[in-house]
Amino acid sequence: MTATVIDGKAFAAKVRAKVAEEVTRVKAAGVTPGLAVVLVGEDPASAVYVRNKGKQTVEVGMESIEHKLPADTSEADLLALIAQLNADPAVHGILCQLPVPDHIDADKVLAAIAPAKDVDGFHISNVGLLATGQKAMVPCTPLGCLMMLRDHHGSLSGMSAVVLGRSNIVGKPMAQLLLGDSCTVTIAHSRTKDLADVVRGADIVVAAVGRPEMVPGDWIKPGATVIDVGINRIEDGVKEDGTPRRRLVGDCHYDSCAAVAGAITPVPGGVGPMTIACLLANTLTACCRANGLEEPAGLTA
Ligand code: GUN
Repeated sequence: MTATVIDGKAFAAKVRAKVAEEVTRVKAAGVTPGLAVVLVGEDPASAVYVRNKGKQTVEVGMESIEHKLPADTSEADLLALIAQLNADPAVHGILCQLPVPDHIDADKVLAAIAPAKDVDGFHISNVGLLATGQKAMVPCTPLGCLMMLRDHHGSLSGMSAVVLGRSNIVGKPMAQLLLGDSCTVTIAHSRTKDLADVVRGADIVVAAVGRPEMVPGDWIKPGATVIDVGINRIEDGVKEDGTPRRRLVGDCHYDSCAAVAGAITPVPGGVGPMTIACLLANTLTACCRANGLEEPAGLTA
């Protein structure tokens, strides 16, 4: 079998188009959704993410509010900024880009964001709401994975799903979302015994461990759907000028998995583009909830 390639870039463009359409409706009701992104320090990868977020926020018609703070910003000053954003009615979503510098307690910062504006879905109130099947703000990457799975399969009910990785940002919320869609869910991790056999039982495999090409094709059940969240930069030979050749790979070995799977997300161009699209969707959702406006269908869990 050769797998259907799930095109995350195209799907993310569709999600953004839908968000843009809904932003027009919300603006007609007199509200402009606003997303505030806070970046502390000069981490180059974070700066790129933040730039992309700001650009895409404006492209869908929302207000982008950026706060770039120096690396030596005190925790108290950052918390004061968050309190100000919490109180600002023009701000519907707040995201503090992680990682923050070592002298700042990230958990304290996440806990300070008003849960209704927590478009990352990292606040423990949202974690608890998701875990108990209530209306929550849902972390963007797992939400993007869920949207792709629903789009491909329609109903996920009764399917067996294995989530590789138990992080708070992807693995745990992903498992909750799959459970919410009535999958039978296993969370596997570095201590899981007989991992290959566990993965071989799954109709859906979501890999989020951050280990390059760790899942080989012979772990995949024929016809299964593989969602690869990993983005790993590896060195792969040398270029003519003697410098290392680098490329991005996922947590799954693409060619061997694609030969067995029914559907697979590539890296790059799979899950990656969905994360910011879902951030925009979450900002719109937060704005609708804050203003008593109807929530758009298909953009939430
Ligand atoms: N750093 C890398 N990805 C993310 C994300 O999704 N949210 C936040 N807040 N920081 C990040």
